[in-house]
Amino acid sequence: MFSMSTATCRRRCRRLLAGACLLVVMDVSADTLVQSCFGCHGPDGVSSAPHMPSIAGLNFRYFYATMQAFRKDLRGATIMNRIAKGYKSGQLQRMALYFGNQTWTGQQGDIDRAVAERGRVLHEEYCEKCHKQAGRFQDKETPPLAGQSIGYLLYQMTDYRTASGGMRQPPLMQERLEKLSDRDLHSLASFYASELAAPPQTTESGRTKPQQ
Ligand code: HEC
Ligand code: HEC
Repeated sequence: MFSMSTATCRRRCRRLLAGACLLVVMDVSADTLVQSCFGCHGPDGVSSAPHMPSIAGLNFRYFYATMQAFRKDLRGATIMNRIAKGYKSGQLQRMALYFGNQTWTGQQGDIDRAVAERGRVLHEEYCEKCHKQAGRFQDKETPPLAGQSIGYLLYQMTDYRTASGGMRQPPLMQERLEKLSDRDLHSLASFYASELAAPPQTTESGRTKPQQ
């Protein structure tokens, strides 16, 4: 049955062992790196605090560019610029991979339907061009809005609206935000946090329970 020579066996074992060690090393380093993020951004980067953004499932390149922007003070921040300065590019890349490999877990809260509806109209007129699919879309430049923490979104929009050139954003976005009132921003944030911006039900979650 066992026709493998001792030498072949040893080689295979060494390779297996090396593989296992590499995996352990990678896991440990990624884990210790991202551990410190969970305190604010929630377990595994999924936030349930209104003023803290979720970071799990952000596009790898958006994540990395954002961390670099924080590090170089190119993006307004209360705390992240100081945090980002503590890491080297290679470490930021590993974090970007860790969070980028997760699935975006948007959270939809219990929101006043009328306010969210008003937000939907504003979104379609001013924002859908870039923040497609009711804000669920994301790519290397565009972060997801649907399901992001409501207080965080509101804070960001207020900042983007007034920051003249000081914030990393497409000029067209600021042009559009400038036209909007505080009430408008509140409606928009409510829309992204509401079930109106939730992904359409898939057969997986929409499936009725099989009868026993
Ligand atoms: C002390 C709390 C705190 C810790 C710890 C923290 N963050 Fe943050 N993070 C924030 C806040 C607050 C913001 C919003 C920007 C700001 O005000 O600094 C933010 C924003 C971000 C964003 C931008 C999200 C977006 O939607 O654009 C990313 C990415 C991020 N943090 C990554 C990290 C990573 C990675 C770590 C761990 C190394 C980390 N954060 C640790 C508080 C924290
Ligand atoms: C021309 C395309 C464009 C338009 C139009 C636009 N955005 Fe954006 N938006 C972006 C991009 C790109 C970013 C990422 C900016 C960066 O690099 O940090 C962004 C970022 C944001 C963020 C920050 C999210 C986060 O996680 O930090 C919010 C909130 C936002 N947009 C809301 C809006 C709203 C509301 C509108 C409509 C009034 C709008 N945007 C219109 C392209 C656009």
